[in-house]
Amino acid sequence: MLDIKILTAYPEMFPGNLEHSLIGKALKEKIFNIDTINLHEYGIDDRMSIDDEPFGGGPGMVLRPDVVEKALNSIPEQHKRDSVKIYLTPSGTPLNQEKLGILAKQEKITILCGRFEGVDQRALDVLGFEEISIGDYVLAGGEIAAQVLLEGCIRLIPGVLGHPESILEESFSNSLLEYPHYTRPQVWEDSLGNKHDVPEVLRSGHHENIKKWRLNKSVEKTKTIRPDLYVKKIKKQD
Ligand code: ADE
Repeated sequence: MLDIKILTAYPEMFPGNLEHSLIGKALKEKIFNIDTINLHEYGIDDRMSIDDEPFGGGPGMVLRPDVVEKALNSIPEQHKRDSVKIYLTPSGTPLNQEKLGILAKQEKITILCGRFEGVDQRALDVLGFEEISIGDYVLAGGEIAAQVLLEGCIRLIPGVLGHPESILEESFSNSLLEYPHYTRPQVWEDSLGNKHDVPEVLRSGHHENIKKWRLNKSVEKTKTIRPDLYVKKIKKQD
């Protein structure tokens, strides 16, 4: 079982998305487990503050290192010692499919969700948090980012997906974006009366041609939308 501990100022945001659909089924089946640790329970002074002003000035508040340490110390010793520790932040290493595959093989993950301007850097360095970003944009906090990372990771655990073979063909599995999909009706008439057919080759039953067509589409799409990915693929082949 993947044992997940979340340090957050908003424990009520969990499991959130993770209790629905196939991931929710995996939660019920105890393929993974989530415990939240409320940072406010480890706040200081009579107001139980968890943040303070940044040294050097500037906007916003910063999560205190002593609060993060106390919250982390509330986790059972073995989990604390053995788990991968992740702090979600837009200034972290970009998350990708390869990293999700690595995380899906772990038994213990601890995630710190930031709010405010950030977390005192000493807490991250001393307590061993790896900084990860889910993309080049800024959210109001790390809770949704944590759910994005966890959903991407949990679906890769064997037994979670209904069609595990889909993992082999999906976007990024071979450094390419996935080819387009089509289903019934074969001819779709839209509300303006225009008719749209499914590509002929997909109805041919010719598996080799279908495979070639899909690979072509994947390459075309990747070159157009993600030239950076395409260059990476070519470099990998050299
Ligand atoms: N917290 C706020 N924005 C984030 C992002 N882009 N990735 C991870 N954590 C975040």
